[in-house]
Amino acid sequence: MNGARMTDQQLTVLITGGAGYIGSHTVVSCLTAGHRVVVLDDLSNGHSEAINRIERICERTVTFYRGSCLDAEYLDQIFSEQSIDAVIHFAGLKAVGDSVRLPLDYYRVNVAGTVNLLSAMQRADVNRLVFSSSATVYGVEAEIPYRETQPRGSTTSPYGASKAMVERVLEDLALADPQWSIINLRYFNPIGAHSSGLIGEDPHGVPNNLMPFIAQVAVGRRPYLSVYGDDYATPDGTCRRDYLHVMDLAEGHTKALERLNFRGFETFNLGTGVPVSVIEMIRAFEHASGVHIPYEIAPRRPGDLPEFWADPSRAKAQLNWTAHRGLETMMLDTWRWQSQNPNGYSSEG
Ligand code: WQD
Repeated sequence: MNGARMTDQQLTVLITGGAGYIGSHTVVSCLTAGHRVVVLDDLSNGHSEAINRIERICERTVTFYRGSCLDAEYLDQIFSEQSIDAVIHFAGLKAVGDSVRLPLDYYRVNVAGTVNLLSAMQRADVNRLVFSSSATVYGVEAEIPYRETQPRGSTTSPYGASKAMVERVLEDLALADPQWSIINLRYFNPIGAHSSGLIGEDPHGVPNNLMPFIAQVAVGRRPYLSVYGDDYATPDGTCRRDYLHVMDLAEGHTKALERLNFRGFETFNLGTGVPVSVIEMIRAFEHASGVHIPYEIAPRRPGDLPEFWADPSRAKAQLNWTAHRGLETMMLDTWRWQSQNPNGYSSEG
């Protein structure tokens, strides 16, 4: 696949899950690049207010359909009403811990939902797709830094397994039907928010992930952070991850969208290649925000790997993409979003 843009024309892109955290930032990136966006979201994780905020940021309208990828008739309606050129597919469940408790929900929404979407695309003769995958598919035994040439490994949760299954579905589809052009993006740890402070991460319930939890401690919604283990074989004993700015991640999707000019299936890591520990994250946030983050050391969280990060060189070479926003910007943008929206998108307390 060459890195050439598919087109300089305006594309109409259906973004499933476009009212969610990464989805909403990708909608902004696609609109900013001049494309037209249609969003499908069932609002189980996302927020309708995020669509309003996107329209304020971009001064463009977004066509919004509220619904699920599991509704085949609704999908057919969207494809018949909108002349879709390509799809960016985020819609899905993403909480690792929940997936262990509710595996059927995860396989139904993440795997069956994606197969349903692909079938609707086939019926509408739309065969360009960017898929939202995760570094978790490399599994527990993968060599660090993770490279796309490594095989998928043994995942530690139904969430990770569902992502690995969808990747396999997409590979097989591209092999069976050469009309398909599919780019599979494996995310590392997206954090941060759009610089306007108008959109950001607003998880329903208690945050599973580190960054939103720190941000909620900073605005007084949580008393302290629990650090899940400080006895790992890492420099300061806490886990290390490859955190990237969500707008860098979003721009990676727009680059991928504009390069769906080949036939087949291609995978790219979207990460910085730079690991950061939990303690370093706390210190970086405190430095950027000026807010002290109290924390306690708690037992390790089952399933956590000590450390992993990306080799992002393939995306640089073939998508002409690199993550260029640094850790301080990630923290400043997180803090601007959270301090301007202490209760996220809900205006009530
Ligand atoms: C990062 C580090 C925790 C919370 C997961 C999914 C991945 C993707 C991103 C969906 C770990 C520590 C966390 C807390 C803590 N999800 N931590 N206290 O686990 O690397 O990745 O989210 O796409 O697929 O696996 O991210 O932010 O949950 O944890 O100490 O309250 O922070 O132990 O070391 P993770 P995370």
